[in-house]
Amino acid sequence: MEMRMLVRVLPIIFAAAVLSPCSLALTQDGLTLLEIRSTLNDTKNLLSNWQASDESPCQWTGVTCHPHELRVQSINLPYMQLGGTISPSIGKLSRLQRLALHQNGLHGIIPNEITNCTELRALYLRGNYLQGGIPSDIGNLSYLTILDISSNSLKGAIPSSIGRLTHLRLLNLSSNFFSGEIPDFGALSTFGNASFIGNLDLCGRQVHRPCRTSMGFPVVLPHAEIPTKRSSHYLKGVLIGAMSTLGLALVVILAVLWVWLLSKKERAARRYTEVKKQVQRDASTKLITFHGDLPYPSSEIVEKLESLDEEDVVGSGGFGTVYRMVMNDCGIFAVKRIDRSREGSDQVFERELEILGSIKHINLVNLRGYCRLPASKLLIYDYMAMGSLDDFLHVKETDVFEPNVQISSCFAEHGPEDRSLNWGARLKIALGSSRGLTYLHHDCSPKIVHRDIKSSNILLDENLEPRVSDFGLAKLLVDEDAHVTTVVAGTFGYLAPEYLQSGRATEKSDVYSFGVLLLELVTGKRPTDPSFVKRGLNVVGWMNMLLRQKRLEDIVDKRCTDADMETVEAIIEIASRCTDANPDERPSMNQVLQLLEQEVMSPCPSDFYESQSDHC
Ligand SMILES: Nc1ncnc2c1ncn2[C@@H]1O[C@H](COP(=O)(O)OP(=O)(O)O)[C@@H](O)[C@H]1O
Ligand SMILES: [Mg+2]
Repeated sequence: MEMRMLVRVLPIIFAAAVLSPCSLALTQDGLTLLEIRSTLNDTKNLLSNWQASDESPCQWTGVTCHPHELRVQSINLPYMQLGGTISPSIGKLSRLQRLALHQNGLHGIIPNEITNCTELRALYLRGNYLQGGIPSDIGNLSYLTILDISSNSLKGAIPSSIGRLTHLRLLNLSSNFFSGEIPDFGALSTFGNASFIGNLDLCGRQVHRPCRTSMGFPVVLPHAEIPTKRSSHYLKGVLIGAMSTLGLALVVILAVLWVWLLSKKERAARRYTEVKKQVQRDASTKLITFHGDLPYPSSEIVEKLESLDEEDVVGSGGFGTVYRMVMNDCGIFAVKRIDRSREGSDQVFERELEILGSIKHINLVNLRGYCRLPASKLLIYDYMAMGSLDDFLHVKETDVFEPNVQISSCFAEHGPEDRSLNWGARLKIALGSSRGLTYLHHDCSPKIVHRDIKSSNILLDENLEPRVSDFGLAKLLVDEDAHVTTVVAGTFGYLAPEYLQSGRATEKSDVYSFGVLLLELVTGKRPTDPSFVKRGLNVVGWMNMLLRQKRLEDIVDKRCTDADMETVEAIIEIASRCTDANPDERPSMNQVLQLLEQEVMSPCPSDFYESQSDHC
């Protein structure tokens, strides 16, 4: 009897043992991803390899897993023309660190369940049609470093829990319909206007707009004592009396405010006619400010521009001299006086400038205005207090830190300071600059090729946050149709070989220059440093030579004592891909950004961000 049983059971066990490896079920994360796909509208069928018959989702388009685990680490599906909604199932991906669904056509809400993904570090939902509010528990995502939900249709108040996100380095809530007071504490108090620009009705310190409540009318009336029955009549009377007095006071204040506004308008109108007269007196004077970005009377701007002199110079470059312009209210701007300009109509030039003036990004230097004076053309930019990356990297031993400071009551002088940058700060600069450039290549329409990426065009703000400057300027100012065999705008050492040869700049020639910039950050050497030029090499050739000789530690700038070889290697690898001689082999800026984010954000972001504020 037992023998017969054994004979029957054995083949089943055998079959199970043989077949089991082929029939392993899809992991739970895989099943969750299929649920997520079911609410997406994959019009282009780009997710066709998301198959239920697979064992794991780790090879699926846009999915990466934690090394040696089958748990989903990131979902990268930007620019995929995906429609539909984000499934609440997203909350089941408890090991998810990066969710990038930007520039798709998603609608619906940001599901609350996303706050269950407690390891999330980067959330990119920019450029969709998402509605509703920000999940109020977003503060639970304590590792969140990047939150970009700009350019959607989101509304409501900004949850104060964002203030708890101590790792947050990039916050972009711009171009939505948010309203109300921006809470001013924790992480939320570290971001400025650029993070909130283009919303329906936000107020608060960060956007330089006082909230109505702060004008002395508390929204919540102070708690009254709980009234007894006997006194309730009396209290009601007092309350009605107080309310009507308050109402009356409000009417009076509004009337006074109205009269004051009217007279102010009149004063402004008078001033405007004065300016107009001044402009007409000399028809060649013209001032254009982009998007109301220069909130000063034209007369003040023109007067300040006309009085710029040698004392205000902060630098000079290929296209002219850069000045610092200080307004009466201590607002500071950088003014570039253009020395040479392409022949052609001023109208075309000004129209193209207007396009450049409309480009806004947290990692780009804002072009605020343009002025044509009889003798010169002037561009008005944001002033970047810490100067350029070039100044920081190539500081001479004897140099004392002297930021762009003018002797004026408007400035608190920065004392002498060590200007060298530690490795953490350099990574932050690499990441921010790649974001600015990616925006120009992939998010602008028409796309913008920079043509002159170099360390002196990476400017730094007070927090050493980088901003790419002079984008599009080279195209505007260099006449490619000139009768010269090859016209290149750009700076020797950064130029891609094919650009040098053909004179035709592309996104890939920018990627090459960005690769050179990465090498400059790693090595601390200019791309034309004598140590390799003497040997007939450029920085790319020199790096390849040292890599072949396995002398990685000789490549790294000695001043970066905090550099860890793992990230150094990764950055060099990215730089060498960017500087591939064949432009087709170079990654796009989008890919570069993704690679950098993966490197900079892992494995231990908290350590990195804590260390980046100290200089080496
Ligand atoms: N917006 C700005 N804010 C502060 N400094 C600036 C600004 N733009 C330029 N500069 C300073 O002026 C110098 C000259 O700039 P530029 O004329 O663009 O030439 P280049 O980019 O070739 O150095 C820069 O190296 C930088 O130090
Ligand atoms: Mg420049």
